[in-house]
Amino acid sequence: MKPYKTVLVGCGSISNSWMKACQDIPQIEICGLVDLNLANAKKTAEMYNLGEAFLNDTLTAALNTCQPDVVFDTTVPGAHKPVTLEALAFGCHVLGEKPMAETYEDACDMVKAARASGNIYAVIQNRRYDKRVRTVEAALRSGVIGDLHTVNSDFYIGAHFGGFRDVMDHVLLLDMAIHTFDAARFLSGANATDVYCHEHNPASSWYKHGASATAVFQMTDGITYNYRGSWCAEGLPTTWECDWRFIGDKGTLLWDGKDEIKVEVVSSEEGFIRDVEPADTDWVDWEESHNGHGGLIRDFVDALDSGLPPLTHCEDNIRSLAMVFGAIGSAVNGQKQPVPAHP
Ligand SMILES: NC(=O)c1ccc[n+]([C@@H]2O[C@H](COP(=O)([O-])OP(=O)(O)OC[C@H]3O[C@@H](n4cnc5c(N)ncnc54)[C@H](O)[C@@H]3O)[C@@H](O)[C@H]2O)c1
Repeated sequence: MKPYKTVLVGCGSISNSWMKACQDIPQIEICGLVDLNLANAKKTAEMYNLGEAFLNDTLTAALNTCQPDVVFDTTVPGAHKPVTLEALAFGCHVLGEKPMAETYEDACDMVKAARASGNIYAVIQNRRYDKRVRTVEAALRSGVIGDLHTVNSDFYIGAHFGGFRDVMDHVLLLDMAIHTFDAARFLSGANATDVYCHEHNPASSWYKHGASATAVFQMTDGITYNYRGSWCAEGLPTTWECDWRFIGDKGTLLWDGKDEIKVEVVSSEEGFIRDVEPADTDWVDWEESHNGHGGLIRDFVDALDSGLPPLTHCEDNIRSLAMVFGAIGSAVNGQKQPVPAHP
């Protein structure tokens, strides 16, 4: 089978994760590199030995010249909508970075455009391709802690990026919490229906807006999901994957966001505090090549081959983005509110 001709748009820092992964995925042939700053496209071509690739500062030129099957969108959030719509209209499949868009309305337009085109538009939510996330998911699905009713996640990191994040509105919710909310949906198997969110930017914050947030989500299946996070928390950080607690009617699972997963389940039916005992969790088999961006791009290629929607298809991903915009709406209004409906 011939490789999928692919144009990558946005040759900034995250594009390296894509380019490195694609070096081991022969079904993807990078034939064009686009960046508003052409020097970035040139640098990427040099780093990954793509001397033959077409380099330009507009997607339009790369589409017309390369006639690609696929567009990879690794631009900044504000460019995701125009890039995706242009690529879909040209007849390409699109795999893009999170978050889909800067407003829910824009994301809905993108989902509708993908639906109308018949092409695949999927979003990189690389944490779904993490062995530890898959192991927690398998443990929860096994029923070891019974029916889930409460999920907590904590995210505390003092991250000094510089660049677009420093001047973004709702930076934590829009640029980071999308990963955590998507993981909460993936791990709980539930969707959010309502949210109350308090967002703040501490006086010491080096971000323009919204570096910290606390949100309570009502999920389907009677689950409550509590999120607490900050991107301007110096000292004693959590991991980027968060510190998690899952409580079911038979016990509790803790995951520290690293390699420690602990489970305790009730072992008696009497007593003020019931006796508990540890339960084992088996690590899932997970190939290194299926971690992170590489795993997701491989699944995207399988979806192109089969025509079946990939795990992070836009029709699914928009439910995670709805949590982001529900939380933002609640933070702005100061009220509990419904999570926006699926388009
Ligand atoms: N999945 C992850 O774990 C992860 C991690 C980091 C960043 N990201 C996401 O990746 C995206 C990019 O982040 P980054 O850190 O690489 O940013 P960056 O600023 O380092 O790179 C973005 C690049 O896109 C280019 N660009 C912007 N608009 C463009 C347009 N319209 N056409 C062509 N090029 C354009 C810029 O010139 C720049 O080179 C963001 O959406 C971010 O949220 C995801």
